[in-house]
Amino acid sequence: MSTSPAVPTVFVTSATGSQGSALCRQLREVGWDVRATTRDPSSPTVTALAALGVHFTPGSWDDEDALRAGLEGCDKLFLCLLPNLTDFEQAPRRAQLITKTARACGVRQAVVSTTLGTAMLDDGGAAPIAPGAFFGAHLASKQRVEQAVVDAGFEHWTILRPAFFMANFIAPKIEFGYTETRDRSTWTNCMTPDSPLSLVDHVDIARFAAAAFRDPGAFHGRRIGVASEEILVQDALDRLAAAIGDGRAIKAIFMGDEEIAKAQAEGSWLFFASEPCCRYMSDYTDMAELVRLVPGLTTFEQFLEREREGVRQTYGVHC
Ligand SMILES: NC(=O)c1ccc[n+]([C@@H]2O[C@H](COP(=O)([O-])OP(=O)(O)OC[C@H]3O[C@@H](n4cnc5c(N)ncnc54)[C@H](OP(=O)(O)O)[C@@H]3O)[C@@H](O)[C@H]2O)c1
Repeated sequence: MSTSPAVPTVFVTSATGSQGSALCRQLREVGWDVRATTRDPSSPTVTALAALGVHFTPGSWDDEDALRAGLEGCDKLFLCLLPNLTDFEQAPRRAQLITKTARACGVRQAVVSTTLGTAMLDDGGAAPIAPGAFFGAHLASKQRVEQAVVDAGFEHWTILRPAFFMANFIAPKIEFGYTETRDRSTWTNCMTPDSPLSLVDHVDIARFAAAAFRDPGAFHGRRIGVASEEILVQDALDRLAAAIGDGRAIKAIFMGDEEIAKAQAEGSWLFFASEPCCRYMSDYTDMAELVRLVPGLTTFEQFLEREREGVRQTYGVHC
C-alpha cells in the first residue's frame, strides 16, 4: 500500500490477463501502487508482476473477503471481467459485488473495460444490423457490467469499449475461435471486403485506462470505443502473413447471407462467423479523438513486430 498520499493505489481485476497485466506494468513504471487478486499465486505471470511490485491477494471475484483485503486502501479500480456464455448473469453479479466492495473500501474512481458491441445498445439500440439473440444477450450482460459501475456512486467513472483484439491472432487467444488462420491459412468471417476491421492492442487499452486514472475529470462519464487501427480484413491478414514470414498467404473468406443465417440458427458463439453487425464496428470508434486522448496508438504491424516471438511460436515458424 502507498506510504504517501500523493501516490495513488489502483486495484486491477484481471491483473494476470492481457489488458490487466499491461496496466499493472504501466502503473508500476510511474511508481503507482497496484493491488490485485489471483486464483493462482504461483503462476509465472503473478511471479513476474510481483517482482515489479504488484501486491496480490489470493482469491477470486466471488470471494468477498479476498476482494475486501485487496481493495482496502485503494483509490481507483480497473474492472475487466470475463463473460460466461452459459450464464449471462454471472459477470453483472460479480461487477456489483466488486463495485459495492470498492465503494465500501473508499475507492473513488473506476474504469471498466467491456466491449465495443455494447455501443450498439446505447439509446435503445439503433444499430444498422441488430445483433442476433445470443450476441445480444452477451452484449446486454456487458452493458449491465457497465451499469453497475455507473450506479455504484464513484466520483469518477469511465467506460472503455475495446474493439477486436490484435492478440486474437496469436496464442493463447487464438484458441478461442481463430485457429483457422493458423491451421488452414484462411479466416472465415461475416465482414465484407470493404468493411473496416477495428483492431485494438491490449497495451493500448491499458494506456487509455492509465490516462483516465491520471485525469479523472477529463474522462469522467465517457463511453469510449477503443481501437488502435482500422484496416480491411484482407490487409490485416496480409500483414499477419508477412510477420509470420515463411511465404504463406492467409486468405479472408467472406461468408454469404445463407452461411451467416445457418451459423446464427446453430447458435454459434463465434461472433465473427455469425454477426454481420460487426461490419459496423468502426461506426462506434472515433480514431481522431482516440489519437488525441492517447497519441501514438499501435498499428497492427507494430503489434506483430513487438510480439514476433509469439507470432513465430503460434504459427510454428523456426528461425
Ligand atoms: N478478444 C477480443 O477481441 C475482445 C474484444 C473486446 C472485449 N473483450 C473482452 O476482454 C475481456 C478479457 O480481457 P483480457 O483478454 O485482458 O483477459 P484475459 O487475458 O482473458 O485474462 C483473464 C484474467 O481474468 C482472471 N480471472 C478469470 N476468472 C476469474 C475469477 N473467477 N476470479 C478472479 N479472476 C479471474 C484471470 O486471473 P487469475 O487466473 O490470475 O485468477 C486472468 O488473469 C473479456 O471480457 C472479453 O469479453 C475481448
